[in-house]
Amino acid sequence: MKKIAVFTSGGDSPGMNACIRAVVRTGLQLGLEVIGIKEGYEGMIDGNFINMDRRSVSGIISRGGTILHSARSDRFRTPEGRKQAFEQIQKAGIEGIVAIGGDGTFTGADIFTKEFDIPFVGTPGTIDNDLYGTDFTIGYDTAINTAMDAIDKIKDTANAHHRLFLVEVMGRDAGFIALRSGIATGAEAVLIPESKTDTEAMLRVLDNNQESKKRANIIVVAEGDEEGGAFKIAEAIKVRYPGFETKVTILGHIQRGGRPTCMERVRASRLGMEAVKALLDGKRSVMLGQVHKEIVCTPFEQAIKHHQKVNPTLLELVEMLA
Ligand code: F6P
Repeated sequence: MKKIAVFTSGGDSPGMNACIRAVVRTGLQLGLEVIGIKEGYEGMIDGNFINMDRRSVSGIISRGGTILHSARSDRFRTPEGRKQAFEQIQKAGIEGIVAIGGDGTFTGADIFTKEFDIPFVGTPGTIDNDLYGTDFTIGYDTAINTAMDAIDKIKDTANAHHRLFLVEVMGRDAGFIALRSGIATGAEAVLIPESKTDTEAMLRVLDNNQESKKRANIIVVAEGDEEGGAFKIAEAIKVRYPGFETKVTILGHIQRGGRPTCMERVRASRLGMEAVKALLDGKRSVMLGQVHKEIVCTPFEQAIKHHQKVNPTLLELVEMLA
């Protein structure tokens, strides 16, 4: 293998740049030519390729977003789009690909590598932490810290005004961001899709807090929770506590941006380096992850089918400490 390519796809996440940098520098160090594919699968279809050298990744390890840009590609969902992408790859002489992305990226990669003969490995890049075969995804650590900082600030104002805030965080159909940021900010309750919301228990906590005149009340809601989002839950709470000032904050895309944490940069760098080595080792159609400090390879179709289980002790922590 003499020429490899790297791209980022799907929702961007902090640490993607650190991973790109590691792929490029490892590739060059091992004597490969490295191509950057711009805007994910869209760029693959259009042949939007650039040559990467050492300097092209200078100064990016501390930056959020992705210098290669990203996209959610509808065209790649079609057989015609994938065929065009493969033709562009062949034309450019690319012999192996590193994809940095999440569930959608690897769903595409799984189909693509079953249709066409091209070595393809992935590193998990998503704030959601919703992939199987890794203890963390690139972006997750920064996102939970961003959510924690934001909720800390909301708590200040909740305390000043004696209010209840429902804070909705991202995570698609996973509750990892909600659970960690909720524990770290001392939330009264955390509502996540992985566990059925015990509305009565949540209301009992609020009852107690009302009685003890606790001023700052925070409920963290994962966007994928089955109760249907922070606004809906706020309406139900308002019925029970008409006199209590209830507010909703949707944290939204601030969770996707910003400078990656130290942990993120180190983990993303390691995964980037290992991805290049895996390609050279002949690995194909696998996502690289880190489990108990070891690098493991998980076939794309498994990585996207399940996600790791929520630790029940963390749910207990929320209840115990509320
Ligand atoms: O997968 C990352 C993520 O931020 C999810 O948490 C969220 O549901 C989704 O992407 C939002 O996607 P978009 O930015 O395309 O609206």
